[in-house]
Amino acid sequence: MRGTLIICADYESLSLEAARRFASAAEASGRRPFRVALSGGGTPRRLYELLASAEFQRRTPWERVHIFWSDERMVPPDHPQSNYKLARESLLKHVRIPPKNVHPVPATLPPAQAATEYEQELRRHFGRRWGWPEFDLILLGLGDDGHVASLFPGAPALHEKQRWVVSHQPPHLPARITLTLPVLNAARRVHFLVSGENKATALRVAVEGSGHLPAQLVHPKKGELLWLTDSAAVGRLKGLRVELVPAGVSQ
Ligand code: 6PG
Repeated sequence: MRGTLIICADYESLSLEAARRFASAAEASGRRPFRVALSGGGTPRRLYELLASAEFQRRTPWERVHIFWSDERMVPPDHPQSNYKLARESLLKHVRIPPKNVHPVPATLPPAQAATEYEQELRRHFGRRWGWPEFDLILLGLGDDGHVASLFPGAPALHEKQRWVVSHQPPHLPARITLTLPVLNAARRVHFLVSGENKATALRVAVEGSGHLPAQLVHPKKGELLWLTDSAAVGRLKGLRVELVPAGVSQ
């Protein structure tokens, strides 16, 4: 297994550990902009609520934080399935982040055009004409089928080697756009948030490397890879030497 696996007692302590690590990473960025790509899905909701709480508001230099998304569903920003909507309602409208520092995906455009325009936004922000953007932190969830961001098993997007952002049409779901694997693997930190028994099989395969899941392709070249999990999600891991970190004791 690549990276570090942290097993928290439950979803709440996983979210608290993720919030502490988010704030510590933001503080460590000094005077530089702190560029983070938020995960979609439902798992990060509690993390976002904690980051909006007084304790973490004080610790996080929101005036220097720039928010992007690891992926987005191609639905309007007020749609229940919008990853932007989740972050806006649970975090962004509660913190003093300058509006210009929030970089939502243009999710009402045709998917291919949205991917092109989002990539241009990233290139403008990172000032990169070549190479890969180095996010300070990319948050990811883990799909039951082992997908990450909107990189699904067997999808052509998994093999993208040039583009930073591509579109994808999962069967029977809204179209999506997603950061590509080279972007994920160029990050300074990648933190997976994996909670619940329904993730146990995908997590086992990803950790033991016994399959070919998209999640197994995420290994930052130079950056930190952290799997923040809870006891329900690690239930199927065998032969694990468990070193329980008491809640609230960040490394
Ligand atoms: C999305 C996500 C996706 C998500 C996983 C886990 O837009 O759906 O980016 O990759 O992180 O599917 O989703 P849950 O957190 O809801 O289990």
